[in-house]
Amino acid sequence: MSQTAVTPKNIVLIGFMGSGKSTVGRELHQRLGYTLTDMDRLIEESMGKKITEIFKEEGEAAFRDFETLQLLEIAKQTEKRQIISTGGGVVIRPENRSLLRNLGYVVWLSAPVEVIYDRTSRSQDRPLLNHLDARERISTLLEEREPWYRETAHLKIDTAGLDSKEIATGILESARYYFTHSE
Ligand code: S3P
Repeated sequence: MSQTAVTPKNIVLIGFMGSGKSTVGRELHQRLGYTLTDMDRLIEESMGKKITEIFKEEGEAAFRDFETLQLLEIAKQTEKRQIISTGGGVVIRPENRSLLRNLGYVVWLSAPVEVIYDRTSRSQDRPLLNHLDARERISTLLEEREPWYRETAHLKIDTAGLDSKEIATGILESARYYFTHSE
């Protein structure tokens, strides 16, 4: 089978806020040595502002535009060995879903509402969850987004009860199989 340079080897992590994308991304980066691309951090760096400030000062629609621009930039890159960690709402736009799917092997990290609530409730960094009833908000957004995560992902991992090392091991085994059979 041909080892063409264009075959994407990227591993793309999608999933709700607090599903562990950043931690698992770092674990995969350490094991594979692939570049770690954290989309939220890239947007913050290029805007010179934290996500909360972007939401407050420019609005969510502007943030979503930055996300799409970021994906278009990554899609143009020749570096195909990246771990790409996304923001939880990246799947909202249909164009993003197809961009993501073409970037590489897309893994959806899923977690139940209670787990997400526990992981996110102590932080003020997520503007969409700064609500009085954050549990209800998580549940509503999750229900809305699940079909989009499902549509975009090659693999879903239920992360409840697993640590980041176990999750990374599962991803690596499946990704190896996927890339071997997609060449
Ligand atoms: C968002 C998730 C956040 C960040 C922004 C919006 C969302 O990223 O992109 O606050 O809409 O779910 P994390 O999933 O890394 O928290």
